[in-house]
Amino acid sequence: MPRSLRIGLGLVALAGLGAASCGWLLPERYAVNAPLLHLLFGVGTEAPSGEAWDRLQVPRGYSIGLFAEGIANPRMLRPTPAGDLLVSSPRDGRVFLLARDRDGDGAADEKRTLLEGLNQPHGLDLREGWLYVAETDGVGRVRFDSASGALEGNYQPILEGLPGGGNHYTRTLRFGPDGWMYVSIGSSCNVCEESDPRRAAILRARPDGSDLEIFATGLRNAVGFDWQPETGALYATDNGRDLLGDDFPPCELNRIERGGFYGWPHANGNRELDPDLGPGHEEAARASIPPSHAFRAHNAPLGITFLRDPQLPKAYRGAALVALHGSWNRTRKDGYRIVSLHWQPDGRILERDFATGFERDEDVIGRPVDVAEGPDGAIYVSDDYAGAIYRIGRGEAPGAGARATTPLPSPPGDTIDHDPAASARGRALYETGRCAGCHDADGAPEGTVVVPIRGLRLRYTLDGLTRYLATPTPPMPTVDLPEADRRDLAIHLLERHP
Ligand code: HEC
Repeated sequence: MPRSLRIGLGLVALAGLGAASCGWLLPERYAVNAPLLHLLFGVGTEAPSGEAWDRLQVPRGYSIGLFAEGIANPRMLRPTPAGDLLVSSPRDGRVFLLARDRDGDGAADEKRTLLEGLNQPHGLDLREGWLYVAETDGVGRVRFDSASGALEGNYQPILEGLPGGGNHYTRTLRFGPDGWMYVSIGSSCNVCEESDPRRAAILRARPDGSDLEIFATGLRNAVGFDWQPETGALYATDNGRDLLGDDFPPCELNRIERGGFYGWPHANGNRELDPDLGPGHEEAARASIPPSHAFRAHNAPLGITFLRDPQLPKAYRGAALVALHGSWNRTRKDGYRIVSLHWQPDGRILERDFATGFERDEDVIGRPVDVAEGPDGAIYVSDDYAGAIYRIGRGEAPGAGARATTPLPSPPGDTIDHDPAASARGRALYETGRCAGCHDADGAPEGTVVVPIRGLRLRYTLDGLTRYLATPTPPMPTVDLPEADRRDLAIHLLERHP
């Protein structure tokens, strides 16, 4: 195992989205217990060194190495047939290409921006010479030559006007074996009646965006989905709602059928009536399709990939890997790992650990988002907490250690003009936004685990923090304010928590 690895402290911003959260105005009760980088690593950046790295465990016969780092919240992954890896960064508005490892050191040879200026790009897929990208409010595509890794021509929108933003603002996109393009759109809230039927659903359309239809509903936030190769069945992960305690409801794996209703917001888990929005909807709850598998509550399953490599060890044939992003709304952290799912002859699904150590004794060094299998059978994992991509291969990790492929960003250290008026407006927004309820011990309701904010100037520029507030890491709710207001907030925060 490489020892001198630095787990991407290059994270200007911690990162991530996807799981859960609560909106600009808060519910009354919540427990927040999510990681903050600086609490773990201190500030500065000489990494957690070998020890933290050595914590990461993979099954016997596999090894894990750092493939790339220094990416602002890397999310979905799509390996190309040539062995390059495409990565989306919603916060940066970009899609990157990580060039395949030709020199055998285990790390990407190069990181290139393929697309930029997109609106929170997340889902990615390749089909018939096109690269498809799901932005928060639409889908676009551009010609992509996978042999050279180059784009040709312009990026063209093919689906516009999808409901964007909200608590679940990431959109996942995959092509099914049937040639249809599937797009999942999470709910706008923790639990509510949606006014737009395209929310909390999986949609599908033809590859050119025509014939858009709602394929399945009642899915609070189905961030990951894939088709089981043997059966062609579509399976999707789904994140259970928050604020019902540490152990309820379960997160779900659902077998998605056309027209199926999966329960949210009226039922959770195995058709259990939701305490808030269940009463009066007993029939809908009864008609909901129960999950094929229940993950533990708040584990936040995101990406899922069925393993297809013909050389797989027997134990993993037919299995799927799922990235558990990890809990926030739970007293003790849970999730923060990759698990493998094994379909049993009797129809049950067994869940086993595949890659662990991202969290140990409440100490977090990473949060898995997506998991994908390259054409050579290597498994890639994105981590929007460390800003890193890991490669899990069979056999020894190559080389003496995959080193950083990208220089760490220099510490922000920009000077911010003292602007008392902006700072005062920011403080007022902090109060009306009820930020204190999660961030200040004094302002928090009893029973809440608060997340202290500290050392912001060491990690954020004013621009970076302004952007963070628009695309924060869940459970930090999206700050749904105009940019000028987010900037005032950021000015206030940088002054108050330098
Ligand atoms: C529901 C609870 C909640 C509310 C409300 C909330 N936050 Fe947060 N916030 C969090 C959590 C949890 C994190 C850590 C997220 C993570 O990294 O997992 C966080 C992270 C942050 C960070 C990044 C801190 C760092 O060290 O990188 C900033 C800045 C921040 N919040 C500001 C705000 C502001 C401003 C508001 C009000 C507009 C607010 N938060 C409201 C829960 C909340």
